Amino acid sequence: MNEKKYYVTTPIYYASGTLTLGHCYTTVIADACARFKRMQGYDVMFLTGSDEHGLKIARNAEKENLTPIEFTNKVVLEFKDLWKTLNISYDKFIRTTDEEHIKAAQYAFNKLYEKGLIYKSSYEGLYCVPCETFFTESQLVDGNCPDCGRPVEKASEESYFLKMSAFTDYIKDFYAKHPNFLVPESRKNEIYKNFIENGLNDLCVSRTTFDWGIPVPFDKKHVMYVWIDALINYISAIGYPDTNCEMFKKYWPADVQFVGRDISRFHCTIWPVLLHALDLPLPKTIHSHGFLTQKGDKISKSKGNGFNPKVLSDRYTADAVRYYLLKEGPIYNDCPYTTELFLNTYNSELVNGLGNLVSRTTAMILQNFNGELKAPDVLNDDDKELINTINALRKKVEVSMETCRVDIALKDIYEVIKACNKYIDITTPWILAKTDKVRLATVLYNLFEGIRVCATLLQAFIPDTANKVFDKLGVTNESLKSYDNALYMDSNAKVVVNKGEALFNRIDVKKEMELIDGGLVENNNEKQQPKQEKEVKQNVEVKNESKPLISIDEFDKAELKIGLVLESVEVEGSDKLLKNTIKIGDEVRTIVSGIKKFYKPGELVGKKVLVVTNLKPIKLKGILSSGMVLCAVEGDSKLSVLTLDKDVECGSEVC
Ligand code: MSP
Repeated sequence: MNEKKYYVTTPIYYASGTLTLGHCYTTVIADACARFKRMQGYDVMFLTGSDEHGLKIARNAEKENLTPIEFTNKVVLEFKDLWKTLNISYDKFIRTTDEEHIKAAQYAFNKLYEKGLIYKSSYEGLYCVPCETFFTESQLVDGNCPDCGRPVEKASEESYFLKMSAFTDYIKDFYAKHPNFLVPESRKNEIYKNFIENGLNDLCVSRTTFDWGIPVPFDKKHVMYVWIDALINYISAIGYPDTNCEMFKKYWPADVQFVGRDISRFHCTIWPVLLHALDLPLPKTIHSHGFLTQKGDKISKSKGNGFNPKVLSDRYTADAVRYYLLKEGPIYNDCPYTTELFLNTYNSELVNGLGNLVSRTTAMILQNFNGELKAPDVLNDDDKELINTINALRKKVEVSMETCRVDIALKDIYEVIKACNKYIDITTPWILAKTDKVRLATVLYNLFEGIRVCATLLQAFIPDTANKVFDKLGVTNESLKSYDNALYMDSNAKVVVNKGEALFNRIDVKKEMELIDGGLVENNNEKQQPKQEKEVKQNVEVKNESKPLISIDEFDKAELKIGLVLESVEVEGSDKLLKNTIKIGDEVRTIVSGIKKFYKPGELVGKKVLVVTNLKPIKLKGILSSGMVLCAVEGDSKLSVLTLDKDVECGSEVC
């Protein structure tokens, strides 16, 4: 078996309508990992697809006067179009309506039945149609679905059940022996506590009240529960049930399966049980990422904030979207998205950071040496420092990518871009152009190499841009774009750079925000944006004058909740700020507070504090802060974080 194989999957997307920017996160992160592994010489299988059965899809089709398959055919075309726009390099797109998949799902169902693991009984429960999930009364939130908040329906019917309960010991043992199966640790603990610790419940795996699904092979009145149908896609795509075929033998078990946190429990309870019951090994890791949010809510069509990501990619390029999602996106916590944050990252990192570096360097090589790269002369300490930084990059990125930390990998690359820009400031090539052409040639050579190495690694993240950079550098030799050569080389003299067009054009953030938030982006309700990065005197400013009276409705706009401090650490370069990681109910947030003068890092850990949870997020020293910890302040000299005198659950409302 090829040791250098990599099987990575996204969930298959519900073919119930248009995808949102939130959906793109799972796919873009999987794409970056797939591209990176290909660069490293792995034989990669990157799978995505569409989840096409179930009541919701049947109903949506009916609304459009289409048959379910006509409807999903149309939606699937839109999916593929979006993935093409975003440069998603999937190797296979599976549809759960594919004949091969249907056969595989029926084979698996039958096998479980024959093994005595599926039995007939009757089910009474509360069913959420959009989520295709049954809930018990106690799982509901305010009588509604705990996942999407919509009403549930009473459902009672004859059903088949999977004996999940028989696998409790197996799954407990598996989790104990495979501590890295589900990443991150916090999600693993949550899933384990809520769904595994007290034993698995048998699962209703068939329906009779609608017929848009895969028929149960031995009882055609029933269709398979969509989650069973859907999960099987990961193996049917590579040839299951023929476990001896080349594809299956090569790729299974999957190396990384990406899922959002809403669907982790299906992948971390039902999926392992299914596989084990089918005598198959389990995937190596499941990465469960957080949500992209707006105003604290998951970006989603049902919340009314799920705008079409193509608006952003059409206007600012697919790479701008990819870069933002990958660098600022939510691995593993939820992460707010606003147009302003997106546009500011675009201007500061893509236009000013990378774009400027490339255009300044190529322009100087063109002006001073007719575009020809000259060999470096004697290296001084500044050069050596830059070269060391460049040479350390590949290893850093490799380490981050081993655990799919695309965000850290991009930050590392961006640090080298910054180091190159700083090197320009230190070496002042515009002066050298008048005084010392030999030294100038060395400086420009080093910059060229810094850019080439960054572009090589950026191929996994922003492939179009990486190619444009290579065009501008005049790098045509494929080996100079290879992972192996993502290190400083001293043999590239004579390459001829090109002027080419600018990589990214600077934009007027205010004007663009007006356009995007003013309606160019459908369903984007985010009209007012948070203030741009600024130092806040949070919690240390005492106002003497009274504030005007407000009504209870105005006060009611503030959302206050109890948070549990999990971590409290220093913010690099700030003598005022501490970065707190705070658990509020199921959510974990980063909140930066100006309390360092009064609290040591770590001092607040374990304390339950009062948090304003619906403040618009702001960036403080480059860290996105989503909320505010309430404090009592006495002048400039005393500050006390408000805590509780009785223990209440974190996530509880403060009123
Ligand atoms: N069809 C199921 C998956 C079956 S896999 C055997 C499904 N589909 S989905 O279309 O609703 O979601 C697909 C992926 O998009 C999930 O991983 C989900 O978490 C992710 N996201 C949808 N909205 C999201 C955000 N706002 N932010 C980040 N990811 C989110 O679930």
